[in-house]
Order: sequence, then structure tokens, then C-alpha cells
Amino acid sequence: MTTQMFEGRGHAAVYQKYRFAPGKELQQTILAYLQEKKAIPAELVVDVGCGSGQGTRFLAEHFKKVVGTDISEAQIQEAKDTSSIPNVSYLVCPAEELPFQDASVDVLASFTAAHWFDIEKFMREAQRVVRPGGCVAISTYTVDMSLRYGDCSEKLTKIFRECWDQILKYAHNRLKFVLENYKEIFEALPFPDKKRITDIYDKIPMTVEGVVGYLESASPYQTFMKNDPEAAKSLLQETEKRMLETMGVSSRETPVEFWVRHVCVLGCKGQ
Ligand SMILES: C[S@@+](CC[C@H](N)C(=O)[O-])C[C@H]1O[C@@H](n2cnc3c(N)ncnc32)[C@H](O)[C@@H]1O
Repeated sequence: MTTQMFEGRGHAAVYQKYRFAPGKELQQTILAYLQEKKAIPAELVVDVGCGSGQGTRFLAEHFKKVVGTDISEAQIQEAKDTSSIPNVSYLVCPAEELPFQDASVDVLASFTAAHWFDIEKFMREAQRVVRPGGCVAISTYTVDMSLRYGDCSEKLTKIFRECWDQILKYAHNRLKFVLENYKEIFEALPFPDKKRITDIYDKIPMTVEGVVGYLESASPYQTFMKNDPEAAKSLLQETEKRMLETMGVSSRETPVEFWVRHVCVLGCKGQ
């Protein structure tokens, strides 16, 4: 069964504004693997569950032709409205029915999306569309997140986690795939050569506003909003207030380091 989240136009707009692109360490991990497996240069790279195009734009810097696909029309519209890059196109379609011919894709990528897919059907599609010798790169950021700012990093991280814990009460049960570091997704990948890396740390430059916006963009927060909008709004207002007070600043634009841990499943299809 597919799980449809991120569908609403409002959510897609928040998503576009606050979701960050893959960090440098994750980018290097993926590119190094593709080099090692000689999947680079690649003709066609597909970003499945591309959302508003954060990962698609990174891929476009390195590959000739990139197609971002997503089940949500609103997300694809945001991706198209954000930028027009000559080697990028977008398609609305489910991850479980990719409109590509057999053995036509060099690299199939997915960023922070695979836990929403019907894993079995998606893996069948990966096996079908990826060419012999082609690769997959399936990653997600995890809930291990921390903040760094001057000498109050610990306090700031505590405030962030307290808020996150409230939000995670509304998490969908698919979060389990993330909490187990994509183990099940790794095991389901039907490629002979594969590996799973669980300790990729990236520093994402943010502001206080960006951190609060990231929390707002999370799917459980959107569920929280639907269930109890007043409590959801006041949680974020209170979190922002506590962050600013702890940092001793008044501007939401104040930069802060946001550290995330990524997990990445990499695989190469046999010849
Ligand atoms: C958390 S977002 C990640 C978006 C983007 N890849 C990123 O890195 O920010 C998950 C995306 O997966 C999409 N999605 C969920 N289920 C899907 C499915 N079965 N097929 C295709 N896309 C799906 C959602 O619409 C959403 O845009």
C-alpha cells in the first residue's frame, strides 16, 4: 500500500521553503559510490519521491538528464515553480509504477522518501528500470538532529528535541523504517552488490526561522495541526521564543548550525 502524505498545496509550499538539499557528506558518499561502480558518467538519473526538488537539483549538477518523480501534484508544481534547469524534468507518478522502459535508467535515487513507498513494489520497479551495472542510492535523514550555537549548543538541542518529541507523537508508523536506519529497505533491495551506511553527518546552515520552519514542514507536525491547531501553533511559537532567549538574540534570522545524521542504502545491479 502506498501512503499519501505531503499532498496539500500548503504543505508543499512550506516544504519548498524549509526543506534542505542533501548535505555535502551525503553528496560525496553517493558520488564516490557511483564513481567506484563506474555508473558515472550516467545518461539518465531518476529522483523518486523528489518532493519540491531538493535532491533533484543536486543530481542535475552532476548528470546529463535528471527526472524528478513524485506522487504529489502539489510537490511537483512547487519543484517546477522553484527553478527551471535545462537538464531537469518532472513527472507526477507513483514510485511503484515508474514510466520508464526496462533497463533504461542509469541511477535511481531517492532522498527521504522511500519509507513512504510500498517497498516490495518499489524494489520490483528498481529491478526492472535500472540497467545492468546501474545503481540505486536511497537515503534519508534520521531523527538524530542537533543544533550548535556558541556555548549554548546543548541547551538549544534540548529545546529542539523537546519540541520534536511532541511532534513525533503524531508520527506515522512508517517512521519505523527511519528509526531502524533503513534496515528493512536495505534487505529488500534485490541487487547483489549493496551496502548501508548509517553514520553520515552533515552540517546544514540554518537560521532560527529555518529550524522552526523545518519542524513545521515535518509530516507529523501537519497531522498535529489537523488534530489540534492551537496547540501545534503554540508549540512552535514557544520553541522559537525559547531558542531566541537561550541564544540571547532577538532576530529569527540569526544563523545556527543544524546537524543531521543520514542513512544511505547504495546498490549496484549485476551485469
Ligand atoms: C519527505 S518528502 C522528501 C522530498 C525530497 N526528496 C526531499 O529530499 O526533501 C517525501 C516525498 O515522497 C513523496 N511520496 C510519498 N509516497 C510516494 C509514492 N508512493 N510514490 C512517489 N512519491 C511518493 C511525497 O509526495 C513527498 O514529496
